[in-house]
Amino acid sequence: MDKLLIRGGNRLSGEIIISGAKNAALPILCAGLLTADTVQLSNVPHLQDVTTMLKLLRQMGLRVEQDGARVALNGGAIDRLEAPYEMVKTMRASILVLGPLVARFGEARVSLPGGCAIGSRPVDQHIKGLQAMGAEITIEAGYIHAKAKKLKGARIATDMITVTGTENLLMAATLADGETVLDNAAREPEVTDLANLLVAMGARIDGIGTARLVVQGVERLHGASHAVIADRIETGTFLCAAAAAGGDVTLKNTRTDILDVALDKLREAGVIVTSGDDWIRVQMAARPKAVSFRTTEYPGFPTDMQAQFMALNCIAEGSSRVTETIFENRFMHVQEMNRLGASITIEGHTAIIEGIDKLVGAPVMATDLRASASLVIAALAAQGETLIDRIYHLDRGYDRMEAKLSAVGAHIQRVK
Ligand code: EPU
Repeated sequence: MDKLLIRGGNRLSGEIIISGAKNAALPILCAGLLTADTVQLSNVPHLQDVTTMLKLLRQMGLRVEQDGARVALNGGAIDRLEAPYEMVKTMRASILVLGPLVARFGEARVSLPGGCAIGSRPVDQHIKGLQAMGAEITIEAGYIHAKAKKLKGARIATDMITVTGTENLLMAATLADGETVLDNAAREPEVTDLANLLVAMGARIDGIGTARLVVQGVERLHGASHAVIADRIETGTFLCAAAAAGGDVTLKNTRTDILDVALDKLREAGVIVTSGDDWIRVQMAARPKAVSFRTTEYPGFPTDMQAQFMALNCIAEGSSRVTETIFENRFMHVQEMNRLGASITIEGHTAIIEGIDKLVGAPVMATDLRASASLVIAALAAQGETLIDRIYHLDRGYDRMEAKLSAVGAHIQRVK
């Protein structure tokens, strides 16, 4: 199993090119199931979850042509309406094939995802939404079996804001009979990116970017071209890395407007941030100041950046409180950070961090994607060497992270 060996203490300096967003690319690839025409995508990130999703879609009969960050999808010969357990258990986002398959083919069999490291993560809202649109759903042998001759428009208000739930129901609604209103919809930029592609494919959607999406179903969708939006979480991860290690780093090909909260927090931490529409420069010469926050849905502070900012707080001046409100078990990085000398205690959903002057390298274990990223950040700021085990989590969601960090001067090496 691959590990990362990081020698901390180097300041970072130079440019990093940001890739397309994992969490936009995954639903967007599934949108290829909605049409028999070709969907041309660019800025698709090179990472394990995308490879897994393409494997799943190929198994269904989707034709895939890949050339670097360009991917062409053709759904003219879909012949298997199933996402098997072996695939879904490795990637929960496989659930995103459910809405498109039922909408276009009237049937789907998708394995129930089960729990995962950061929480129980049920998919009841996906199921309830499709039932409201007339799908008959049974759960048998661990599979969701959905059937509907033709989905019908409905008014659906999900019990909580759910990102992939909104995406699944939005895709389903594009081909339903009549009008669907999705209330309490997620407003994450990745949902908006999917909606923009769907509109380019001929879908009729109002309220994009708001909590109420109104969809007029159409008979069929056609092909389109689309560039995947920049990865705001990858951007935020490198911003925290530069802030923790110190230095002067410019991130390119990104989107400043979808990172407001993170940039404000970095300024509060004492980082000098300058930016244009698609670039952000961070300069950091001093020890960061502690910043407190609560995770919430977009446009609030993203749960996917909680762990990375906690790494920064570990070496900050002062103490901070970080409250996680989206997932019940997303503090798995805390124990590992404490192994590096951090002083973090947990009270319910809140972590209390007493900033210390220096972390000291040690062997640690990655437990999920963003926890792994936070350990990389902590290691870059720590004295001595840190060996991070189980970095397959990192490979799932970051496009060549160690190459990008090496290029700006980090001592980071993959060891087998
Ligand atoms: N929830 C339910 N029932 C549902 C759906 C969600 O109870 O039917 C709960 C979840 O258990 C959770 C909350 O609602 O407590 C929000 O979950 P959501 O459905 O929004 O999460 P998700 O769609 O499964 C996506 C991202 C996550 C990100 C969350 C929150 C993708 C592929 N995944 O997950 O990304 O943390 O939204 O923003 O888009 C990551 O990239 O590291 C990652 C975990």
